[in-house]
Parts: sequence; structure tokens; C-alpha cells
Amino acid sequence: MSTDALAEVARSVAFEAAPTWEILWRLHHPFDRLPGRGPVESVLSRAVHAGDVVAVVGGSGSGKSSVMSAACSPLEVGIAPVRLPLRAEPLDTLRSVSAFARHVLASLAALGRDHARLDDPQREEAYRAAVDRRVPPGRRRGSGAPRAPWLLTGGDLAAQLASAAVAVAGARRSGVADVQQLGQTLSLVEAHGLIPVLVLEDTDAWAASPSDASRRPIAVHFFREVPRLAADLPGSTVMAVHDTYRELPEWAAAQELIDRQVLVPRLGSAGELTSILAHRVGVAAGGTHLADVLDGGAVERLFELYSSTRSLRAVLVVADEAVDEAHAAGRDSVDAALVDRVVGSRYPS
Ligand SMILES: Nc1ncnc2c1ncn2[C@@H]1O[C@H](COP(=O)(O)OP(=O)(O)OP(=O)(O)O)[C@@H](O)[C@H]1O
Ligand SMILES: [Mg+2]
Repeated sequence: MSTDALAEVARSVAFEAAPTWEILWRLHHPFDRLPGRGPVESVLSRAVHAGDVVAVVGGSGSGKSSVMSAACSPLEVGIAPVRLPLRAEPLDTLRSVSAFARHVLASLAALGRDHARLDDPQREEAYRAAVDRRVPPGRRRGSGAPRAPWLLTGGDLAAQLASAAVAVAGARRSGVADVQQLGQTLSLVEAHGLIPVLVLEDTDAWAASPSDASRRPIAVHFFREVPRLAADLPGSTVMAVHDTYRELPEWAAAQELIDRQVLVPRLGSAGELTSILAHRVGVAAGGTHLADVLDGGAVERLFELYSSTRSLRAVLVVADEAVDEAHAAGRDSVDAALVDRVVGSRYPS
């Protein structure tokens, strides 16, 4: 235990509860590596390579995005993941399958444009940065535009995707044509020997909970439109599904179009939580060990919090705040009493 270790972790993203997509896969400790449970990441990875429509199911903060980021990481060879942020999208994007297809086309085209303007040395540098397993030091938020390694080594593919945008912007045509064009654009990716993967990981932030009546139409439209479109397109689609959405009749109706469900597992012991936190500290805070910053009692308390919330995000929020407090107070570690205090202030009973 040391004040130096605490300072190192406080400066890092080890306990960052909402890491950027570019950092998420680097912090991910595979559930596959926790002993005595069924495979998770490997199943998702196989499904993605097989061109399936996959739902990754779990509660809020349970690890859906984290699992998806690992299976679609820049180190995965042969796939072309395209993350489609939905958070800020209006309901109109789901008004029809063609509106959604246009959204995907516009995202592909923007990605193409962004990569097409890089010269060779910039591509090489961007490629090296994208596939580097190391977590960039400090708390810097995402720097620069996210890079898709498959576009950095893909020859003229970036330019081809960019020109798809011109066709979209210039055309007035039927909805069927939009869907067809999306299919053709994804076929371009396949022609380069890659499996296109549409990654819809922030559906929760978009659709919120089905119990929130004002947001319900989003989830309803989503399950009516997106799995059908995904099933018809080349490549695979991976979507995060909040476990409460499974109450929706539209989810039940979409089942015949969803090839596979991957459930994010529930952690069963403080030891499993320790493995995850230790991995994060190890990759994000240099040579620091978890035991240098959290004592055993603190981890036990964090596991109690996990057991009642089922949320790794809740655990990280509390751990992060406790580390900051301990660091500010000049202490050399976080103990159970400090975790209790932070939990008490965040979740007053
Ligand atoms: N296996 C893991 N290894 C390391 N960190 C993890 C793991 N699973 C989840 N996390 C971390 O827990 C936090 C919550 O995970 P994540 O964002 O994936 O949850 P989510 O299910 O996508 O939540 P939401 O429903 O809000 O989208 C993140 O900080 C993530 O990095
Ligand atoms: Mg998520």
C-alpha cells in the first residue's frame, strides 16, 4: 500500500465508469477467463464472424458494451466493425427501415471520408495507435477521430465508402432503394475479404427503460425494424439489449430474426470482482497492483454493492470516488469504512 500507487490509480482510467469506446476493449477482462462459467466473448466472436444477428443481453452497467468492444476490438482479424452511435438519434431514424438504412449509410460514408483523407504515414501511425493494447496514460478523453484499422489497411475501400455518401445525398428514391444501397455498400466491404459488423451498443442510452413511457416507442420501433433489416443485410449485427426489454412483445416477435443471444454473466464472488478490478488497475496504472490501493475489506464491500445493484458501473463509480478521497486525504489505501461512506452518500437508504 502506498500513496504513490493511490496517486497513480487516481490519475488513470482504471476505475473510470464510462470509458470511451476506444478504451473499453483495453480495460475489458474477459468473462471467459473467470473459471467455472460458460463462454461469453468467444461465443460472441464466433457469431460475429459467422454473420449472425446477435443480441447481447444484460442489465444496466452489467458489461454489455464492454463485452461487445472486446469481440469487435481492433485486434479481431477479418471483421469490419462499424459502431453506430444512437444516443442522439431522433425517433425519426426508426420511422422506417429506409430511414435507418440511410443513417447507417451516412455513418459508413463519414467513416470512409474520415479515413480517405489520411496520407500513408498518417494511416500507418493511426493503425499502430488503434491496435496498441496499452491504455493511454491519464484521464484524457478520446483524442481525435476514432479509427477503424480495417479501413487503414483496406486500400481504396475508404474512398469507395466515401463515395457512397454522394449517392445518398444526391438521390431521391424509394425506401427499397435505400436498403438496397446499404446492402451493396456492405458488399463492398465483403469484397475486400471482411465481414461488416454493425455495432449498436448504446441502445440503452437511446431507448432508456421500457417502463419510461415517453421512450417506449423507441424500443418498440427498434425491435420492429432493426432485426428485420439486420437479417437481410450482408455481414452481422450486434445489439445491446437491456434485459427489461425482453418484456416487450416486439422483442418476442423479433426472436425469429435474432440468431443468437449472449447473456452477460452475473459475478458470483468477490474473487471474480477482484480479477476484473485487478486487470483494470494492471493495464491502466502501470505496474500498480489492486492490493496496493484497495484492501480486502474494501473489495468485499464493493462486491456487496455489486450484489445489490448487479452493476459494475456502480462499483466503479464508488471505487473511483473512494480512491480520489483517499488520495486527497493523503491516505495510503482504501478500506471498507471508506467504501461504506461513499456508498452511503451515493445511495442513502
Ligand atoms: N469484464 C469486464 N472487465 C472490465 N471492465 C468491465 C467488464 N465488464 C464491465 N466493465 C466495466 O463496467 C462498466 C459498465 O460496463 P458497460 O458500460 O459495458 O455496461 P452496459 O451493460 O453496456 O451498461 P449500459 O446498459 O448503461 O449501456 C464500464 O466501465 C466497463 O468498462
Ligand atoms: Mg452500454
